[in-house]
Amino acid sequence: MTTATTGTTPPAEGAHGSPHTRVEGPEKVTGTARYAGDVPFAELAYGWLALSTVARGRVRPVDTASVLAMPGVLAVLHHGNAPHVNTDYAGMLGPPDPTIAVFQNDRVPHRGWPVALVVAETSEQAREAAEALVVEYEEEPHDVAFDAGRPDAYAPGGPEKPDVAEKGDLAAQLASSAAVVDEEYTTPEEHHSPMEPHAATARWEGGRLELVDSNQGSAWIVNELAKLFSLDPSSVRVRSEHVGGAFGSKGVRAHQVAAVMAATVLQRPVRVVLTRRQMFTLTGYRSPTAQRVRLGADADGRLRALEHDSLSLTSTVHEFVEPSAGVARVMYDATAHRTANRLVRLDVPTPTFMRAPGEAPGSFALESALDELAEQCGLDPIELRARNEPETGPVSGLPFSTRNVLACFREGADRFGWAERDPRPGIRREGHLLIGTGTAAASFPSRAIPSTAAVTAEQDGGFTVRITAADVGTGARTALALVAADALGVPTDQVRVRIGDSDFGQAMIAGGSMGTRSWAWAVTAAARDLREQLALGGSVPPEGITVRSDTAAAIGALTETERHAYGAQFAEVAVDTATGEVRVRRMLGIFAAGRIVNPLTARGQLVGGMIWGISMALHEEAARDDASGATVGADFAGYHVAANADVPHVEADWVTDVDPDDPVGIKGIGEIGIVGAAAAIANAVWHATGVRHRHLPIRPDRIL
Ligand code: MOS
Repeated sequence: MTTATTGTTPPAEGAHGSPHTRVEGPEKVTGTARYAGDVPFAELAYGWLALSTVARGRVRPVDTASVLAMPGVLAVLHHGNAPHVNTDYAGMLGPPDPTIAVFQNDRVPHRGWPVALVVAETSEQAREAAEALVVEYEEEPHDVAFDAGRPDAYAPGGPEKPDVAEKGDLAAQLASSAAVVDEEYTTPEEHHSPMEPHAATARWEGGRLELVDSNQGSAWIVNELAKLFSLDPSSVRVRSEHVGGAFGSKGVRAHQVAAVMAATVLQRPVRVVLTRRQMFTLTGYRSPTAQRVRLGADADGRLRALEHDSLSLTSTVHEFVEPSAGVARVMYDATAHRTANRLVRLDVPTPTFMRAPGEAPGSFALESALDELAEQCGLDPIELRARNEPETGPVSGLPFSTRNVLACFREGADRFGWAERDPRPGIRREGHLLIGTGTAAASFPSRAIPSTAAVTAEQDGGFTVRITAADVGTGARTALALVAADALGVPTDQVRVRIGDSDFGQAMIAGGSMGTRSWAWAVTAAARDLREQLALGGSVPPEGITVRSDTAAAIGALTETERHAYGAQFAEVAVDTATGEVRVRRMLGIFAAGRIVNPLTARGQLVGGMIWGISMALHEEAARDDASGATVGADFAGYHVAANADVPHVEADWVTDVDPDDPVGIKGIGEIGIVGAAAAIANAVWHATGVRHRHLPIRPDRIL
């Protein structure tokens, strides 16, 4: 389905498919929407985290006397006095990252590790005292140097489950290939940088632990906190009404755990808010990657060999893999195929999921390499991709649920004016500018996670949906209103959606491009049941009629297919040969990403991803200082993200693509917008200049 502006839109099927402004929009633009750090509490105390100033070592016993004597200071928690937490459990993502189990021992595994929480009557008093607190360390030598040649790189998952997929004889196929690309591509450490900093307020209320939080899934936070503090999950409630961005960074983090500890010790509500600088070490980030891609093809561009090897880093305390080599497993087949993710452990914070983990950096390397192969074979890059379009999953052999990647390229090429493109690089000049265009493919897995929802028919004729969904700024609340209205067969304004409260039950988080799909499934199931009940007649009692759903059985019964969203990215750039500046002039992304619930917010979501691709291609880069182990310039002055002036005409649209097994036809659009975007820009820079840029970001000094 395409958007209303293109004139090719099939009729909307009820409420979903028609553009709808955000149901909470008026609250947000009038400032009445309260974010986690805004909610008032009587007797509220403020915690401020003190972070380690060494990259490795041990914390000496902490002398708190002078700080405790400072105005307003209520407590100082540190490894010598903090409550014990349990870390011997498997949460949603496996064993917990010890980074969240604050103050449990004297080890410092990276710079910026939380060593103390100072709690005071006001935020200013807490900050002043935290900055005055002297923490001494037994410092040990550290190692934070990431590079492709690390001899200590290893295959994560252990010998039983290494993250390697292979078939065929790679060396033999490479040797018999007429065209070979063998290059290394690198991407730097990148940070989520959501607008709203992480914030949590913990309190004990009526024997229950309550957290007012900014997160991607309140049920998730309940489960983790309950395990950490050995509580029954029913005695923990987490609320997260509005969230100002997350992108993978808003799970369980040190500040929530520290807030719970302090609220427990003081028996008062305690709020801990992170500063922008603290977010650079406490909330996860995207690992840098060093990726080697080897492609071997016949003269006509058909792949014989495809190898993608990606090295990323993790901390010494927890294993997280940026799975960049995985994208080839679904995109392109070859007679011999090998993809492997490897890791190196360094004295750095643990990286985490960041929008399109794996696919974002992986597609930069793979889709750049394909462009290089197209150049060698004298083929149009879109034709090269068409020649290598697989019939079934290249590694899995599974059928595709739907795969409309070539439809995206056709629609995109038409609208971008690709047919007029002169393939020769470095020949289009406008004064001191060189102009070029580039393209790349996009893909992202489509999954659903069992969730529960409740839909109530109210006595006044309205309907209330309750689900522990999170709207991290995507418009999820609005999408669910549209989905519920459709399933109920009522106008959207009769539906009220309540989200962000763990008391509504277990549900998927806003993550992995699975939020809306998982929640819409549960909401649709409950709403359809309710509609049937109401059709039988009878009156609605004062408490309403509530139907609950649980999608575990339905999702468990799904047949296994290669279920992905796809897309085609197009970019035009102008490269200033005097200053080395690259400016994107226009971008177009066409996606095949299942049924689009709300074209208005979907476009925002996809364009947002593409803009992040501009940022990734040209701006974002966190530099770690080898000597101190610290991120240099850990703020928006030192860490550049694309600003308005960097963002030209960016257009996102979609082709008809309906998931055959999803009750609404959804696949998910949270992440695919960024996938392939940086490669399309890098390929355009090559087309402009004739020079390949294999290291992001493409800074002016790399152009000159
Ligand atoms: Mo995300 S990286 O889908 O939380």
